[in-house]
Amino acid sequence: MVNFLTTPGAALTTRERLFLKELAEQTASAFECPTILNIGVEYGASIHCLRAGAPDVEIVGLDLNNSKMIANPGARLITADSTADSSQRLVEGDLPLVLIDGGHTYETVLQDATKWSVRVPLGGIIVFHDYTDIQTMQILKEMIRGVHPAVDEWFTNVTEYEWEEIKAPDSMKAWRRTA
Ligand SMILES: C[S@@+](CC[C@H](N)C(=O)[O-])C[C@H]1O[C@@H](n2cnc3c(N)ncnc32)[C@H](O)[C@@H]1O
Repeated sequence: MVNFLTTPGAALTTRERLFLKELAEQTASAFECPTILNIGVEYGASIHCLRAGAPDVEIVGLDLNNSKMIANPGARLITADSTADSSQRLVEGDLPLVLIDGGHTYETVLQDATKWSVRVPLGGIIVFHDYTDIQTMQILKEMIRGVHPAVDEWFTNVTEYEWEEIKAPDSMKAWRRTA
């Protein structure tokens, strides 16, 4: 069994890992048979955190390339472009918890936010990684540069549903759907 606090490869801080676990726990208890969507799988660190909080629910991991995943804890992995309309049809039903940590360009993050947020039911949560720049390496700062403006753009213009920001640690930003 992989320890979700120490799975390698990800830029997730300990607080972020605990936060994802807690969100998954809340989702598993508040929704009947929920599906949790994790966009951006890579080595699977975030999936291990979600699984730690929700041992029995369906977790879907969506990535352009799922070959790096370490010790998959029972997530359904879909290899596809999260921004493609066809990907919407690959994941069925409501998604009470959506983690967006896939492509980090402005365009990709804005598309992910716009397209996947409409799948969040009342009381569900959308959470973004790398919103706040806490990276120390310049190359990583460059890579995540588009996330902050894209997330702000989505929230400023979102007309679908109402959202209330919830407190999230470190580089994360999260909202709960309230109407
Ligand atoms: C920062 S990594 C994800 C890290 C992962 N959440 C973790 O905790 O280990 C970003 C991933 O997003 C994937 N990605 C980039 N653009 C994508 C897209 N348009 N659709 C799906 N996945 C994408 C990359 O292949 C990469 O594996």
